[in-house]
Amino acid sequence: MFTKRKFPSTRLRRLRSKPFIRDLVRENVLSGDDLIQPLFIKEDLKGTEAITQMPGISRFGLDSIENEIEELANLGIKSIALFPVINPDKKDEFGTEAINQNNLICNAIKKIKNVVPEIIIISDVALDPYTNHGHDGILIDGYVENDKTLDQLVKQSLALAESGADIIAPSDMMDGRIKLIRNALEEQDFKNIILLSYAAKYNSKFYGPFRSAVGSSSNLGKSTKAEYQMDVANSSEALHEVALDISEGADIVMVKPGMPYLDIISKVKETFNVPTFAYQVSGEYSMLKSAIENKWLEPEVMSESLLCFKRAGADAVLTYAAKEIIMELNK
Ligand code: PBG
Repeated sequence: MFTKRKFPSTRLRRLRSKPFIRDLVRENVLSGDDLIQPLFIKEDLKGTEAITQMPGISRFGLDSIENEIEELANLGIKSIALFPVINPDKKDEFGTEAINQNNLICNAIKKIKNVVPEIIIISDVALDPYTNHGHDGILIDGYVENDKTLDQLVKQSLALAESGADIIAPSDMMDGRIKLIRNALEEQDFKNIILLSYAAKYNSKFYGPFRSAVGSSSNLGKSTKAEYQMDVANSSEALHEVALDISEGADIVMVKPGMPYLDIISKVKETFNVPTFAYQVSGEYSMLKSAIENKWLEPEVMSESLLCFKRAGADAVLTYAAKEIIMELNK
């Protein structure tokens, strides 16, 4: 005997029943247009050098970077973010090498623009790859001095703009830097240089592999960046940071790290409706990648995590996996 049951009239599984209908109702897609490839460039290096803490990722010498850029551009990557690995003997207390118009990154920008002029170059503004203490600013009596650091960041930004960077990306979390950099760029007639602010950047342990990659972790030692990067526990404060950076002249804002911070991305996008990027940082990448290499996770977890950034509201994602993912998407 059948018992008479009332079936639901709404069956959400109907729209999941066949691949084509799933395609038709899908709300978000990941495409090559969403991916930004971060690249490490090492001074005096010939060829490439694998980064132990980041499986599949290498540092490039100035002699090998052009090839890589051409490959990325041919695959459809539209933007790269450059990070320098500076000779230890060029690092000092003030990060002086950062404002040298002839430094590694300025030369790399010129080289890259020579071979692929249309690729959008994002250049980081912060002193940590250049300081012998590994902090993002100028240390005075053990404290990173905000306003003295700003002078240096403005000079660094102008050197990068002069070299041909399209996007200047301050990642240092000093107060007031967007306004000063924006003013300096306007004064020097760099009207179309885009400011991508690392607006909500947290004091995260997920940056570990990056610090090894640029050689700043041993300089930093046991010291932390808690006095300038945001407290991991805070969320309203991220909106305050973003509001300030927009009012100071940022064109794009960024949330960093990414995956454990999707709530922040979502709030920022909903609150401000401005272009919002996310950074899937080194620790997130290495975590997924090492699990994939060990066959504990399937390779698709990488593109799944990137699609989730889009769902949360990110317009583009900086990810070390950009190259391999765009190769997958092109298939
Ligand atoms: C430096 C900077 C960091 C990252 C990007 N720019 C590290 C830090 O703040 O210590 C981290 C990127 C990553 O982990 O992939 N200002």
